[in-house]
Amino acid sequence: MRISIWRPSSHTFAPLCVQKHKQAPICSFPFVAFLFILGTLFANLRDLRAARAALFSMTQPTTDAGRGHAAPVIRLQSVQKSFALPNGEVFDAVQSLSLDIQQGDVFGLIGKSGAGKSTLLRLINLLERPDAGKVLVGGRDLTTLSRRELRDTRQNIGMIFQQFNLLQNATVFDNVAFPLKIHGRHSKAEIDARVRECLALVGLAEKIDTYPAQLSGGQKQRVAIARALAPRPQVLLCDEPTSALDSETTRSLLETLREINQKIGVTIVIVTHELSVVEVLCRNVAILEKGRLVEQFAVDAPSEERKTALGREIDELVRRREREARLPVVPRPASVQRNALEAAYV
Ligand SMILES: Nc1ncnc2c1ncn2[C@@H]1O[C@H](COP(=O)(O)OP(=O)(O)O)[C@@H](O)[C@H]1O
Ligand SMILES: [Mg+2]
Repeated sequence: MRISIWRPSSHTFAPLCVQKHKQAPICSFPFVAFLFILGTLFANLRDLRAARAALFSMTQPTTDAGRGHAAPVIRLQSVQKSFALPNGEVFDAVQSLSLDIQQGDVFGLIGKSGAGKSTLLRLINLLERPDAGKVLVGGRDLTTLSRRELRDTRQNIGMIFQQFNLLQNATVFDNVAFPLKIHGRHSKAEIDARVRECLALVGLAEKIDTYPAQLSGGQKQRVAIARALAPRPQVLLCDEPTSALDSETTRSLLETLREINQKIGVTIVIVTHELSVVEVLCRNVAILEKGRLVEQFAVDAPSEERKTALGREIDELVRRREREARLPVVPRPASVQRNALEAAYV
């Protein structure tokens, strides 16, 4: 069957039809081609709507259907993940877990080793596909997306790892440019400008032409952060990002993450086993035990109602910091105020 298009006449308005006609058509093509054109049109419309929604959600806080209060940027609804073990048993790593994370938050996920923290984090960008439940990011249920839609949506979710996962044979520039190049929608000039912007954000502008092997651990993690931020994600997932770093480097990296959250408003979800990381960086925290969420609270509000030992430990760290902040600064006695070397440089 062929589809033909005629010029509309006075007695009929049927420019598109499959009937026989006396005049010669303007054009004519097989029915299969017609279906193909329709399909392409619909796909592009859907992409356009998705792009507009993504752009909109980068600049505007999402609200619950206009009811005025912010909708979570991440919503996990009864997610479940099991692994088949070599001995034939099934291990439930995440069990019917629901969690909301608000836009702009810095959210900690803590728990003992094996509690399911990394699995839960990987469910948020669908690196692990849940066996049941929904994973909504920016209002879209990722479990319903096609492979291509998921690839596009993942640009909205950056991730960094304990071991940095940089490309060893690529320069810092090429590492940060990588997610922009594979997406293929950016000009060379745009990529160049964005890479420089991201490296400046993590304080590594001068390392642009070096290779990962020439960097310290902290610098490698900064490159990984710059790479994750390059596609302007709404969410940054961090799996034990400071576990391979010494305490001094950890402090400075946490400061960088805090600055990034404040400057660009990216939502940070951080898995860690270091309670000091939660105390210094996070606004909210969830505690996992055996794949279940057992407790969730705002870090700056210690309470007598904590259910878990980890919760009580975090409260204790917060209270200690508050006590220390209230202590008056005691001036050193004049005799020990300056040693000879200090005095020489005053
Ligand atoms: N691909 C897998 N196959 C089998 N078991 C897994 C797999 N991934 C994780 N697990 C198991 O699930 C549990 C939770 O793992 P994980 O999420 O990595 O814990 P955490 O990050 O809290 O240490 C662990 O007992 C781990 O052995
Ligand atoms: Mg882990």
